[in-house]
Amino acid sequence: MASRDEILRELRLAPQWRLRARPADPAPEAPPPPAEAPAGARVVPLRPAGDAAQRLARIASLDWPELAADVEACTACGLCRTRKRAVPGVGDPRARWLFVGEAPGAEEDARGEPFVGQAGRLLDNMLAALGLSRREGVYIANVLKCRPPGNRAPEPAEAEACRPYLERQVALVQPALIVALGKSAATLLLGSEATIASLRGRVHRYRGIPLVVTYHPAYLLRNLTDKAKAWEDLLFARRTLVQAQRDAPPAG
Ligand code: URA
Repeated sequence: MASRDEILRELRLAPQWRLRARPADPAPEAPPPPAEAPAGARVVPLRPAGDAAQRLARIASLDWPELAADVEACTACGLCRTRKRAVPGVGDPRARWLFVGEAPGAEEDARGEPFVGQAGRLLDNMLAALGLSRREGVYIANVLKCRPPGNRAPEPAEAEACRPYLERQVALVQPALIVALGKSAATLLLGSEATIASLRGRVHRYRGIPLVVTYHPAYLLRNLTDKAKAWEDLLFARRTLVQAQRDAPPAG
């Protein structure tokens, strides 16, 4: 059996890179207690009204060029005031693999492409170890399309404002498998505040699409021991994708 060092060398993940930015996977905070409705009150689920509903319908009908233009012009949250460039996504528009990260950092903000900094180099190495690349068979997107100042974690309201773009990307790509990289992606896509440790190693579903959870590459830059676990997760993801394709009805 290969030693951990051998696995990491194989992945080209050793020697260890150092992360300059803030932690991407902070310890989970306890969710706020649910607000209680007054006795006897009927709880009506909130539905977007007026402009919000129109925005959702509009985004849900965009094609790729329109989606990129819409993201670049978006003012739905305050991040539009501090971004240099919006970062819609990158990759093969008909990819089988969709990787979802958290949010652009400084280099992504400057270049308009996701995962082009240190964490991105690690992600590219992990893709290469699977025989994949961001140009073919893979699409890479983030929960947020604009950089949060100082690389802070996304605010829930920002993630919600950006959610329709990710949903449209999923609908356009129609991936066979989604890999959620880290807590922000897992929380948004699964609606769960559970830890990565408790979510990995299982097949979840997002709108019927198999979804696998693993650590965020920026977290892995600081946690050498979890790189081997992330590699296990990617091998699990590949097996899940093969199985999903075996189970899929033949294209007619
Ligand atoms: N981290 C992310 O989650 N996304 C990027 O695009 C870059 C770093």
